[in-house]
Amino acid sequence: MKYDLKKLTLDEKITLLCGTDRWHTYDAHGKLPVLHLSDGPSGLRKEDENDQTVSATAMPTISTLANTWSREMAKLDGETIADDCLENNVDVLLAPGVNMKRTPLCGRNFEYFSEDPFLAGTLAKEYIDGVQSKGVGTSLKHYCANNCETERLYQTSEVDERTLREIYLSAFEIALKAQPYTVMCSYNLINGVYAAENTKYLKNYLRDEFGFNGLIVSDWGAYRSAYRSIIATLDLVMPYCDKHFDNVKQALEKGLITEEQIDFCVQNVLNLLERCESKKEITTTKEQRHENAVKIAEEGIVLLKNEGALPLKNGKILVSGTYSENPPLGGGGSSYVKTDYKQKTLYTLLNDTLGNGYSVDYANVNLFSLGQTERTQIACRKAYDSDTVILCVGDDGAVEFEGADRKDIKLSPYHENFILNVAKYNKNVVVVLYAGSAIDMSAWIDKVNAVVLAGYSGEGVNESVANILSGKVSPSGKLSETYPLNLESCNVGRNAVDLCERYTEGVFIGYRYYDTYGVPVLFPFGHGLSYATFEYSNLTVTKLGETDFEISYDVTNTSNVDAKEVSQIYVKDVFCAVTRPEKELKGFSKDLILAGQTKRIVQKLDYRSFAYYNLALEKWHVENGDFEIMVGASVSDIRLKAKISIERDESTQKSVY
Ligand code: GLC
Repeated sequence: MKYDLKKLTLDEKITLLCGTDRWHTYDAHGKLPVLHLSDGPSGLRKEDENDQTVSATAMPTISTLANTWSREMAKLDGETIADDCLENNVDVLLAPGVNMKRTPLCGRNFEYFSEDPFLAGTLAKEYIDGVQSKGVGTSLKHYCANNCETERLYQTSEVDERTLREIYLSAFEIALKAQPYTVMCSYNLINGVYAAENTKYLKNYLRDEFGFNGLIVSDWGAYRSAYRSIIATLDLVMPYCDKHFDNVKQALEKGLITEEQIDFCVQNVLNLLERCESKKEITTTKEQRHENAVKIAEEGIVLLKNEGALPLKNGKILVSGTYSENPPLGGGGSSYVKTDYKQKTLYTLLNDTLGNGYSVDYANVNLFSLGQTERTQIACRKAYDSDTVILCVGDDGAVEFEGADRKDIKLSPYHENFILNVAKYNKNVVVVLYAGSAIDMSAWIDKVNAVVLAGYSGEGVNESVANILSGKVSPSGKLSETYPLNLESCNVGRNAVDLCERYTEGVFIGYRYYDTYGVPVLFPFGHGLSYATFEYSNLTVTKLGETDFEISYDVTNTSNVDAKEVSQIYVKDVFCAVTRPEKELKGFSKDLILAGQTKRIVQKLDYRSFAYYNLALEKWHVENGDFEIMVGASVSDIRLKAKISIERDESTQKSVY
């Protein structure tokens, strides 16, 4: 090892276990290099020595990245942000977050991938690979069961063992395959013990069972007791805490902790120092990073509804709505990125992109001189004279932000009324929606022709939306979370009550609930339309081993438009001794399929594709019997189905009826 623990005094070792300020580690009187840790998931947020935020590329948020369903885009996202980190001497990027979207109310859902751990973990792994391929570290966060923001520093997540393993730990397990430099523990308590001092989940699970050998860092201000944190093997407390040194020293003198336990954490800090010394070269220019932001946004935008208005037809097109000039690039909180990129407005870009035969007009409803009524009247009058109206509405960082949850999932009354009023005067309204989590559209969805989910998609959002509306690019995004009909139809909605969030729904979150119990939704998990049409055929299932199978099938682009398609594989355990969801996502592939082309897609299923966590056996268990393999364009649009039977050795089974 390059940095020898023996050369540090006891005081230096104790001091090394806490940051020296908000972002830096301790240098042990010049014996060690100093690391700089910085947010965040949708681009670099670095505060310089004057506490000024440096400019960086504002990438799409993780929720938009998830809607790409693209391993390639996830890796590109990580690589792109890493270049901004290299340019600004940042050693560890505090991202990505893989917390499950358990309720659409969670204020930080825009920072998270999905309601499904397989999708979240798979994309997070690629993102981490992307960042770390450049020698910049990551921080897989927030470990764990941090699924609401209400009272997040004091809230207990009360989760049964099976639910924890199958839903709330599973994405971490998958993402750990990328060997993140660090894991960040969350603020909340997990089953009654603060995550920062929870030996069961930090040491017994994360380190001993999942094999994580990197550094565990606290969320900022998440630590409670210095010695209990060290016993739980939390290595680094952030940010600086003036009581930390004395607390650890006193605990050592009282015999509450040993120097060996301190040394274990110190060694993890020294290992991180060394791991952060293999930085690579910057390979992108600022312009290329911007282009990457556009590319990822294009693949993450989801065409939710389209009754023919898109791609835009010749004629008079009106652009209006609060966000038609400056749409929100992200949600609020520590993931904010300061970009100095000046986007052209959607109106200007459409003018530039669309050819002859189009005329694009703009109803600017953002003039401070206008009252709400006047704003709406301007838009309505112009809408009446237009062939198609594009309305840019949604939420922003004042609605979806870290530290608080939404109370509802509808748009503001102003935006709802704006849509309803304009729709009285034009039958071809295209709503471009900015949001980081599910929106209840029941008040207006039947009044509009098309809905494009632009999400919170960074500094390239206007370009990507213009390219999709114009038909230059076919939309290929798909929902990574269910859009329910309304909040009342969600099985998980309430925020933390008396500080205890009881996960009584068990594994049945998101589509695992709606699809299993036949609860109607507005748009299902995995849904997203295209300008192309696709047919699925020739499903073949080849047994490679006891629980290893190769799944192959054809997807044909039956249109005259080149486009990408996300095909999804779901597994059903037909008869099981415990209740299991009707379907569980266990594979997906995003493929460019040219007009008229047929592509053969091959995916693999393994033990964990069929297993559930059996509490009596205390392990992941595959029960002998029948399974269904389903291939679909969404969880509700199953195109192909096959049945298989798994017969493992009798000794692996428990007695059945
Ligand atoms: C915040 C967030 C965490 C972030 C950290 C540093 O409270 O929970 O995601 O990385 O503090 O800003």
